[in-house]
Amino acid sequence: MCGIVGYIGNGEASQIIINSLKKLEYRGYDSAGIALIDDNGNTALYKEEGEISNLELILPAITSHIGIGHTRWATHGKPITKNAHPHSSGNISLVHNGIIENYMELKEELVLEGYEFSSDTDTEVLAHLVKKYYTGDLHTALRTALGYVHGSYALAVLSKDHPDELIAARKDSPLIIGMGDHENFIASDIPAVLEYTKRVIYIDNFELVSVKQDSIQVFDLEGNHKKKEEHIIEWDPEAAEKAGYSHFMLKEIHEQTNSIHETMLGRLHELEGDVIFDELGLSRAQISQIQRIEIIACGTSYNAGLLGKYLFEKLAGIHTDVDSASEFRYSSPVITPGTLVMAITQSGETADTLAAVHEATYYECKTLAITNVVGSTISRDASSTIYTRAGPEIGVAASKSFTSQVVVLYLLAILFARVRYTMDADKAQQLQSELRKIPGHVRQILENERSIQKCALKFAKTNDYFFIGRNINYPIALEGALKLKEISYIHAEGYAAGELKHGPLALITKDVPVVAIAPQGHTYDKILSNIKEVKARDASVIAIADMDDTEIKKYVDAVLPIPKTDEILSPILSSVVVQLLAYYTALELNCSIDKPRNLAKSVTVE
Ligand code: AGP
Repeated sequence: MCGIVGYIGNGEASQIIINSLKKLEYRGYDSAGIALIDDNGNTALYKEEGEISNLELILPAITSHIGIGHTRWATHGKPITKNAHPHSSGNISLVHNGIIENYMELKEELVLEGYEFSSDTDTEVLAHLVKKYYTGDLHTALRTALGYVHGSYALAVLSKDHPDELIAARKDSPLIIGMGDHENFIASDIPAVLEYTKRVIYIDNFELVSVKQDSIQVFDLEGNHKKKEEHIIEWDPEAAEKAGYSHFMLKEIHEQTNSIHETMLGRLHELEGDVIFDELGLSRAQISQIQRIEIIACGTSYNAGLLGKYLFEKLAGIHTDVDSASEFRYSSPVITPGTLVMAITQSGETADTLAAVHEATYYECKTLAITNVVGSTISRDASSTIYTRAGPEIGVAASKSFTSQVVVLYLLAILFARVRYTMDADKAQQLQSELRKIPGHVRQILENERSIQKCALKFAKTNDYFFIGRNINYPIALEGALKLKEISYIHAEGYAAGELKHGPLALITKDVPVVAIAPQGHTYDKILSNIKEVKARDASVIAIADMDDTEIKKYVDAVLPIPKTDEILSPILSSVVVQLLAYYTALELNCSIDKPRNLAKSVTVE
């Protein structure tokens, strides 16, 4: 997730902007840049790949009192200097956090009109659009440009024709204004300004802000004035990085209302029931000819892959196998050129997954990476790459990166099914419209967080936990168990519920809580039987079930409800519940949640 900063005031702009950008480092970034208007009225622009310290090395001493800065977390275009922000057109420079969904068509039009592009980013179209509509009034130019843009943005704009003003705007990406004494700030998040001021204004969607040294004015997109409330921030700097949450993991669980939306942005075309993945690198003919899919991944990404198997087989009729990358690399895989090898890895750096991709490449088949990190090693090694766009994840336990991986798999399954004529447009449209509701459903689950916490507290002192599910819910049983053991250190097993009687039932006693993933669907009666099976052994059962399910309450000790959705999409919602259950159990046990013992975020060794 990019970080944006703007400063205007009596202070030394370059130092303040660099300092503020450093406070946004926790958001993750791969390059940084700054644009300043110096005291002679000239614009100075510097950008550099890698750490902010690299940018500092090339930044000369400039006396300036107005500027904008950016840390980039790449979504379009590699993490290299030319793609770093600010982007400029004429006298206008801007920094952007978000995704311009329709940038390709806008770019084509701008190129035809003679605009030259020097980056591969979606953001550069914005700079040219503002320039195109500029006739002396920067506000009107920005408002007009934004009228042509689909997607999300938080922006800070600087022009040497207006050296006493910065303009900011927001839609679906975070933006705040910090109010100081004869100085004001624009930022993506509060930590950036906390050293200078505790007075902030939260900017809402479709608001445009004029930021001058001694004034802040907020407008709607029609140019009407808006009154805004000022807030005093009492957080310490560490709490501010976590936006007031006690852990990054909890913050990241909450961010799923937005990250899932970002994953889908620009990829769903409900009218035709189609899915667009420009980066897929497979023609319709190649998709039709896929004979088998082989998914390779580790840990949570493996669990996402298992869910993918159900989707590709059920929706698109493509036989799919899922292997742990660490096993695959030493096996004797039967891979033909008709096999599509899919490697799922949030970090893009997992050593076993990279080795498995190298192994697959040997068989001359197509390799498709699904990763969260633009420019990661896997994106260079695989034939093509789809980015999950979950934003950086700091907590070692994967949460938002998992749901975004899963959403990419849903979209791919719909795409493959449409191309292979195993799904008609009506069904695709219906699934897509249900998918669009998922962020709202996640919000509803988060509103019920306290009851999940209560349930976690009740069972936190146990030594063992079981998670059971059937069919498409089985991967969530595995993921629930993995999440719980990873951060709470409680032994947990994830099982296909039908397998219980083949051994593990011997372990079920009154001291073993069992989480049953049980939304309504074609295996609902079967999981109810499994619930009765474990209840007969005196186990306590926590059911993750549909909100309107009154039947299940009769058989279980607690119900953690999820909103009603298409049966096939319910695993996304159940996964948020198991994340919260693991989180609150670990919290109760006072565990090191963001950095569990013995584990690393990126497993770069075998
Ligand atoms: C997830 O909570 C774990 N931290 C771990 O299982 C992780 O998913 C695994 O190491 C794979 O990582 P990757 O997605 O970066 O390849």
